[in-house]
Amino acid sequence: MKPVISVQNLSKTYASGFRALKNVSLDIREGEIIALLGPNGAGKTTLISIICGIVNPSEGQITVNGHDIIRNYRAARSEIGLVPQELTTDSFETVWNTLSFSRGLFGKAPNPAHIEKVLRSLSLWEKKDNRIMTLSGGMKRRVMIGKALSHEPKILFLDEPTAGVDVELRKDMWQVVRELRASGVTIILTTHYIEEAEEMADRIGVINKGEIILVEEKHDLMQKLGEKRLTLHLSEPLAAIPGSLASYKLEMKNDGMSLVYTYDAQQESSDITSLLDDIEAASIQFKDLETRQNSLEEIFVNLVKK
Ligand SMILES: Nc1ncnc2c1ncn2[C@@H]1O[C@H](COP(=O)(O)OP(=O)(O)O)[C@@H](O)[C@H]1O
Ligand SMILES: [Mg+2]
Repeated sequence: MKPVISVQNLSKTYASGFRALKNVSLDIREGEIIALLGPNGAGKTTLISIICGIVNPSEGQITVNGHDIIRNYRAARSEIGLVPQELTTDSFETVWNTLSFSRGLFGKAPNPAHIEKVLRSLSLWEKKDNRIMTLSGGMKRRVMIGKALSHEPKILFLDEPTAGVDVELRKDMWQVVRELRASGVTIILTTHYIEEAEEMADRIGVINKGEIILVEEKHDLMQKLGEKRLTLHLSEPLAAIPGSLASYKLEMKNDGMSLVYTYDAQQESSDITSLLDDIEAASIQFKDLETRQNSLEEIFVNLVKK
């Protein structure tokens, strides 16, 4: 399938001499939600700003729906809606006018039916005549999304959409994003909240110090890099791990009341069977056992450390 956005060998050196992006290549698929995950300063906003034509690339090539972002700037830009990281929300303008003007800026003919549809989908219809400055934080965020959708783009960029937003509002935002995806919009969001990438994305790109470290299906990423842990809650505390169990990756926890076995999520389960046999042979009794897989957070911390 042809990518809806193609980024090839993109580098960015700011005027200060700082190299914010180093040879980044990335294809974005039509209809997906991709999360660009990385710590502050990784280059996420720079990448988005270049694709949206706000910052000039130093090297490399980008096309949006086949349009080169430099040679065909207007055509490329009109495919895109951008909700920037820094929101400008102290406006005296009404919600309705904000969306309508923004549409006009893209040279699109007025389409009140579309504006109404967008406002309704964001639960903003009742607020259409309110001035933006009078709205709550969450409503303002929605207005910014509505503004970005006013010219009917097929691609939506959300730069840190839930930074500084409370938990409830975050869930709301996720719901809005899911509905947009269901309507066929391709969504690229940046975040330094792992939880957000884990919850929302179809694919995850990890970006660190200006480089894309990896891009994977969320599910594959968690499978591939996820370690699993089997914890045995013992009936009696253990003084030391018996020699007969030395070949297993075991740790004592909880003052000897728990034994934790770490293994690869893709490993054959036969190892667990033999471990349990050997534990029984060592006369260790346990009253309960549990397994858990690493969260994306643990995977991410490991990646960035490497
Ligand atoms: N206009 C600029 N001039 C010089 N350096 C910049 C400029 N904008 C951003 N940077 C630097 O580039 C790096 C990446 O920034 P940014 O893309 O905003 O990261 P992120 O969005 O991942 O937090 C940071 O170290 C930042 O200080
Ligand atoms: Mg940023």
